[in-house]
Amino acid sequence: MSVPFIDFSRQNQAIQAEVDAGFKRVIEKSAFIMGPDVKKFEDEFAAFCGVKYAAGVNSGTDALYFALAALGIGPGDEVILPTHTFIATALCVSDTGATVRFVDIEQETYNIDPDKFARAITPRTRAVIPVHLYGQMAHMQQICQIAGKHGVAVVEDACQAHGARYKAQRSGSMGRAGCFSFYPTKGLGGWGDGGMLVTNDDKVYQTVSMLRDYGRTDRYSHRVKGFNSRLDTLQAVVLSAKLRHLDEWNAMRRDVAAIYARELRGAAVALPQQAADRDHVYQTFAIRLKERERVMEGLKTRGIASLIHYPIPIHLQEAYRDAGCAAGAFPVAEAVAADILSLPLFPHMTEAQVLEVTGALKELV
Ligand SMILES: Cc1ncc(COP(=O)(O)O)c(C=O)c1O
Repeated sequence: MSVPFIDFSRQNQAIQAEVDAGFKRVIEKSAFIMGPDVKKFEDEFAAFCGVKYAAGVNSGTDALYFALAALGIGPGDEVILPTHTFIATALCVSDTGATVRFVDIEQETYNIDPDKFARAITPRTRAVIPVHLYGQMAHMQQICQIAGKHGVAVVEDACQAHGARYKAQRSGSMGRAGCFSFYPTKGLGGWGDGGMLVTNDDKVYQTVSMLRDYGRTDRYSHRVKGFNSRLDTLQAVVLSAKLRHLDEWNAMRRDVAAIYARELRGAAVALPQQAADRDHVYQTFAIRLKERERVMEGLKTRGIASLIHYPIPIHLQEAYRDAGCAAGAFPVAEAVAADILSLPLFPHMTEAQVLEVTGALKELV
């Protein structure tokens, strides 16, 4: 049996009727930009996260960039982030003109190491971007405490952690702003690009609402130099329909992860660890193992997909050569990048599919 990395066909079936009706409504009114469907989804998403405001934008990258821009971050400032993440976490900083300061990650959760964050703070540090990688929130309590002491803003990169919790709090709700991607493969994914910024901060919300819409305050008045980066109305219809299922689908992801953990116990792989105070949503099921490339090839031969998130830490990417970090600068992140492997995981994955993967994997390792 071949096993795809993800298969959202059952998700799509579950929302198809609601989406058809929503698309019909939007098309009949030719109301393709913003409008009540975007506002409705923003309100639903804000309530889901437990925050005052949500502003739809066209990607997670733009949500991150707008958060930093709304905080006034620019040339001369420094922003701290983990080097083991998707490159967009760094690009949004560079786009403001600020300097990226990489730090290493925790061995256990693969998220930013709070102690190393504390040590990287300088008088120029304006913000930190904890990334809730693979579906598990970073150590937010410690990060917010350290940041608060030094007057550093916390901008959460929650692009991989829709609905995850730190104690009782949802991802995106603990920093000055939380940023989400609705790229199709995400836990809450659209049928195209999309993103959202959530915040309790009136000023951040108002600024981002202007920045995403040509910097305007009304049809003809432009207070700041903005962008065209709105959440597409048809995507809002899809996302609103999916949001109602998100907690259920995240619980299904956890069930799949539990089968993986049960079956791989004792195998020569390191399993993901869930911190006791956190609710993991398993956007990605990432294991560590020896001879990764050989195992990937073996899985591929058996029709089983796997991916690497991510093989090159950002400080070693050519695009960030100007950061001046040599190999060896962030040993935990570099070791993880060398042997991490993501296995197929999606909410409707069957036990038989998981057993197919684990059976093949146990043979190969
Ligand atoms: C951790 C992280 N940050 C930022 C992004 C950027 O989101 P987008 O692709 O919607 O721009 C992504 C996803 O692609 C991500 O995984």
